[in-house]
Parts: sequence; C-alpha cells; structure tokens
Amino acid sequence: MAYTIKLGMFGAWRGSSYIELIGEEDPSVVKIVAVCDKQAEKLDHTEGLKDAKLFSDFDDFISYGKSVGMNAVFLANYFHEHAIYAIKAMEAGMDVVSECTSAATLKQCVDLVRCVERTGRKYMIAENYPFMTANLEMKHQIDGGTLGTLLYAEGEYNHSGDLNTLKYLTPFKYHWRAWMPRTYYVTHAMGPLMYMTGSMPKYVSARASHSKLLEEIRDFRPNDDGMARMFCEMDNGMTASFTGCTAQASDYSRYRVVGDRGSVEQGGYTGGSVRLYYSGHTKPEGVTDEVRMITPDPAS
Ligand SMILES: NC(=O)c1ccc[n+]([C@@H]2O[C@H](COP(=O)([O-])OP(=O)(O)OC[C@H]3O[C@@H](n4cnc5c(N)ncnc54)[C@H](O)[C@@H]3O)[C@@H](O)[C@H]2O)c1
Repeated sequence: MAYTIKLGMFGAWRGSSYIELIGEEDPSVVKIVAVCDKQAEKLDHTEGLKDAKLFSDFDDFISYGKSVGMNAVFLANYFHEHAIYAIKAMEAGMDVVSECTSAATLKQCVDLVRCVERTGRKYMIAENYPFMTANLEMKHQIDGGTLGTLLYAEGEYNHSGDLNTLKYLTPFKYHWRAWMPRTYYVTHAMGPLMYMTGSMPKYVSARASHSKLLEEIRDFRPNDDGMARMFCEMDNGMTASFTGCTAQASDYSRYRVVGDRGSVEQGGYTGGSVRLYYSGHTKPEGVTDEVRMITPDPAS
C-alpha cells in the first residue's frame, strides 16, 4: 500500500532549504502539510509551501497535524531545544527527524530513548557531513580493509565567517550560537569519523581555546571560546580527536583516518579528492604507488 510522508517542518530558517527540496519531490511520497516558526517573516519566501498551513505555536501545529494525518516532524528549531519537541511529537504519534543533534543534556538523551521505546516511533538524526562524496569514498576505502588496524582518526570542522556573517547567524545575544560551549556542535567533525570507521566513542575529554578576536564582539556573542577540541577512545580501539563548531580563521574542514598499514584523508588541499597512502611494505597486491589521489564519483 502506498504510504505518504505527511511532514511538519518546525523551524523555517535552516528548515526552508528542506522545504524547497521536499517541494521538488513526488507529493504522493512526501509532502509538507504544516510549518511552524514564531518568526513569520521566515515563512514568506518559501515556494514549496503551497498546500501547507503555517503556525507560530508548536502545540497548535501538532494539534492541526493530528487532524490532517501528519505522520512525521522535521526539527530545524534551536539547536539545544530539539529533545523537548521530539518527545512531544513522538507522544503525538509522529516520527521525528532532528537536524544535526538530539539533545543538550545526557538526561534528555535518556528521555528520548525511553520515549522511542514507549511510543514505538521512528527517530533519526539528520547529520549530513558523513554523506559528502569524499567522505563516502573514505568509508569505501576503510571498508576495503587494506588500512589494517585503525589507530587514530581526526576531524576538523570549520565554519569561519566575517563579523557580518557571525552577526547574521547570531540574531540575538543569547541565541544558542552565541553562548553554547564549542564542544556541543560536534556532529560535523565527529559524525563522519564515526560513520566511516563504524565506531562509537567510549571515553571523552575536551578543552576549549580562548579567542581574543571574539572578546571584541562580546556584546552580541558572549562566548569567547574560538574552538574546542575533543579526544575520544573509540569502541574499536582507535583514538579520535576532533573540533566542535569553530570560529577560527580556517577555510576548510578535513578528515583523516590512519591505520597500521595505510591512511586515508580528504579536505582543503586535496581539492575534493581523497588521498590514500600505503608505506612501501604495506601496499596491497596490485598497488604500485605509495600515494594515490582518488577522485570520488558522486554517481557510484
Ligand atoms: N546540517 C547543516 O549543515 C546545518 C546548517 C545550518 C543549521 N543546521 C541546524 O539547523 C537547526 C536550526 O538552525 P538555523 O540555522 O535554522 O538557526 P536558528 O536555530 O536560529 O533557527 C531556528 C528557527 O526556529 C524557530 N523557532 C525556534 N524555536 C521556536 C519555537 N518554540 N516556536 C516557533 N518557532 C521556533 C526560530 O524562529 C528560527 O527561525 C540547528 O539545529 C542547526 O544545527 C544544520
């Protein structure tokens, strides 16, 4: 029997890019039936909203959703408030996709898991960086097993911007981008490493670094930490280090996984290609070069 995903979009800033994409899909497969954002101006320009009803209050949005068979909610609201609304949506019988992160505290993570168990709803985190073409190629190389025992992995996510961009992304003083510890927005740096190595963190420690530059813009961004670095022992025995969301002056993100027989990496200087390395005695049969640059094919 055909099943239509009747989706409600909560948060229409990042959410509007998904509204556009979903608007291009076959509406018998997926369509947006309602959108909720307390800032009405974020809803004006969205083309894909022809048949969707607009709300500024989450509870009204869910009540309406129930009346029209809305069966899933996409959470693109404030980064640190996803769990509260995920639980409300699942309790109302709807599946949930949560943009980038699940929860702001460990307790909320436990509450989320219990809610999934209680309601039987589907819950998914939408973290996109693992699925970049070059990261998928890294995973393909790692899955091939020629890198040997994985020893360590590094992830670095950079989202630099000029002051106007920072202001634009931080619309009020206590917006989450202004005050949250830099360790929180970790999914773009860590997610790809977890996905490509199939591992989960077991132990973690972290440190942040102070930025003099950010001190100068304290009036609209009251957290002077320019970056945070985390160090994890993973459940496959390797170690991993990665940054959280950062505001330092670097223009690219990068990922690197090193085994005892070879290594693989991408980012910045590799120009979208993946660099694969074996030392002389660890080259797999048939491989002649120690270093190979692989151009990933998005179609494969
Ligand atoms: N994957 C990516 O590359 C990527 C890129 C940008 C943002 N994001 C994620 O998207 C999420 C949203 O970020 P953003 O950039 O849209 O900025 P944002 O968090 O400022 O925007 C959230 C939107 O939700 C609305 N909202 C929040 N709480 C509400 C409530 N209780 N009732 C009604 N409306 C409410 C706000 O008005 C705002 O328009 C974050 O979790 C962020 O991590 C991911």
